[in-house]
Amino acid sequence: MVLIVSLPDASEDPCFGPFPISTSVAISAKIVTIIPESENRLPSKSRSVVAIYPGSFDPITNGHLDLIERGSRLFDRLIVSVLRNETKAPPLFSASERMEMLREVLQDYPNVEVDSFAGLLVDYAAARSATVLLRGIRAISDYEYELQMALMNRRLQPKLETVFLLPNEAYSFISSRLVKEVFALGGNISPLVPASVEARLQRRLSKPKRKGA
Ligand SMILES: Nc1ncnc2c1ncn2[C@@H]1O[C@H](COP(=O)(O)OP(=O)(O)OP(=O)(O)O)[C@@H](O)[C@H]1O
Ligand SMILES: [Mg+2]
Repeated sequence: MVLIVSLPDASEDPCFGPFPISTSVAISAKIVTIIPESENRLPSKSRSVVAIYPGSFDPITNGHLDLIERGSRLFDRLIVSVLRNETKAPPLFSASERMEMLREVLQDYPNVEVDSFAGLLVDYAAARSATVLLRGIRAISDYEYELQMALMNRRLQPKLETVFLLPNEAYSFISSRLVKEVFALGGNISPLVPASVEARLQRRLSKPKRKGA
């Protein structure tokens, strides 16, 4: 409920004539209207939009980074979230290592947060009050899988929108898998990943293999 009161000018209101002005003002508040709150709401001008960018980020590439940069300009808050219950091949980096790498690279983005999740994405989005899922499309090959995922998520939670962004075409061929493969074969990956990620790959893949591994 919202109570609107009006304080009339005592000199204009004959009822308050006998009182000194200061007293009149103090006691002359009269109820004009009682408006139910639902009718009194201002149009919601700028509700803050929270988006989640889920992925394996094993490791983050310049393609992911391009998308995060675009997303950070579009949404009030962007949560970059590492998927922990990965069904793909075992990851090269643990979830906490992947989060560490993301944090190193994303420290200059004040509205971007790094997190991780397991289980249904729609449940995680609800828990984080997110209304948007951000995904990327590099080529038509991504489209089929992404479409399937987006429609399934819509079936599970119709209010959650999936937004697809296209990277700068210079990054449209980069994937974490390809970066790891090229690096393992001795190729130059400097233009494909942030420098801190390249250094980590160097440390990880140059570790001598254990006997029998
Ligand atoms: N270079 C890129 N440009 C645009 N979107 C990308 C790029 N790389 C990944 N994405 C998108 O980011 C999301 C998360 O992708 P994911 O973590 O699987 O990265 P990935 O590079 O595809 O890794 P992997 O090779 O292990 O599958 C997906 O929507 C994917 O399409
Ligand atoms: Mg992928």
